[in-house]
Amino acid sequence: MNAMNIGTFHIGGDLEVRRLGFGAMRLTGKGVWGPPEDIVSAQAVLRRAVELGINFIDTADVYGPGDNERLIRDTLRPYPADLVIATKGGMVRSGPATPDNHRSVIDNSEAHLRQAIEGSLRDLGVDRIDLYQLHRIDPEIPIEDTMGVLGRVQAEGKIRHIGLSAVGVEQIERARSSVEIATVQNEYNLGTRKHEDVVDYCTAHNIGFIPFYPLKIGQRAESEQLKAIAAREGVAQTGIALAWLLTRSPVIIAIPGTSSTEHLDQNAAAASNVLLSKHDMGVLDAVGGKAMA
Ligand SMILES: NC(=O)c1ccc[n+]([C@@H]2O[C@H](COP(=O)([O-])OP(=O)(O)OC[C@H]3O[C@@H](n4cnc5c(N)ncnc54)[C@H](OP(=O)(O)O)[C@@H]3O)[C@@H](O)[C@H]2O)c1
Repeated sequence: MNAMNIGTFHIGGDLEVRRLGFGAMRLTGKGVWGPPEDIVSAQAVLRRAVELGINFIDTADVYGPGDNERLIRDTLRPYPADLVIATKGGMVRSGPATPDNHRSVIDNSEAHLRQAIEGSLRDLGVDRIDLYQLHRIDPEIPIEDTMGVLGRVQAEGKIRHIGLSAVGVEQIERARSSVEIATVQNEYNLGTRKHEDVVDYCTAHNIGFIPFYPLKIGQRAESEQLKAIAAREGVAQTGIALAWLLTRSPVIIAIPGTSSTEHLDQNAAAASNVLLSKHDMGVLDAVGGKAMA
């Protein structure tokens, strides 16, 4: 079992990645703060991802901060030639996140973004960042100005492609008036469907859509219809949630996160092997509550 037979997507038209990627955020300490407790097993997860054929890893400067990018660097360098690493910037975190306090503030100022990009270049150990995603839009700064900064850094050769995170269609359109937007990363899964319009927009414009929290389907995992499809396919409900995303649109690149090689193997197997019919998709749409989205 591997990720090889999952289709690919060309980020920004040139970086070809398999549509099952890996979200590295879980490989940090509690509250996404500091290094992981068990560095050896975190490194085993990253190495296994590459072994499985996964060639897209998502991280961010605030995961740690810095520890997650450095873990990727220290584990995987020299990087495989086809590995694409996406990071994010534009936020500052002051301590471990808790469910009711993310301990983060948004800062899209040019001074901060430039400092953050230099930090990510160093922490990832690269000369150019493959995909730089604006983690959150700063309400204090017009998005066109922020894109102007990222466009200049791109022209300087420090970032290859620009992506956005947690945005609506109007914000994507405003950003695209200044620079090419290669990807959008929003919360989206079988049960969280408020960004259907963004998925459709990205599909129409061939912009990569990277759903975050792809497996966070909550109590919908207990749906009898979902359980029946999972049993038929011989996978856990999370495997069906993953297959549903990959079937939903050809521009979706899924980045399930895990700190376990066993779960990583299960996710790769489900993404490779589960084939959902149109009828299954209809059943799952109803489970996920598309009508209420
Ligand atoms: N742009 C943003 O603002 C933003 C926000 C949040 C996340 N993200 C990105 O999205 C990525 C994914 O998000 P996420 O990791 O928070 O959520 P997720 O992928 O939806 O779910 C991860 C959770 O599912 C569990 N899991 C994974 N595979 C499993 C399996 N086969 N069976 C049972 N449980 C399984 C993991 O536990 P185990 O460790 O025990 O496997 C973990 O608790 C992150 O790594 C990050 O890169 C971005």
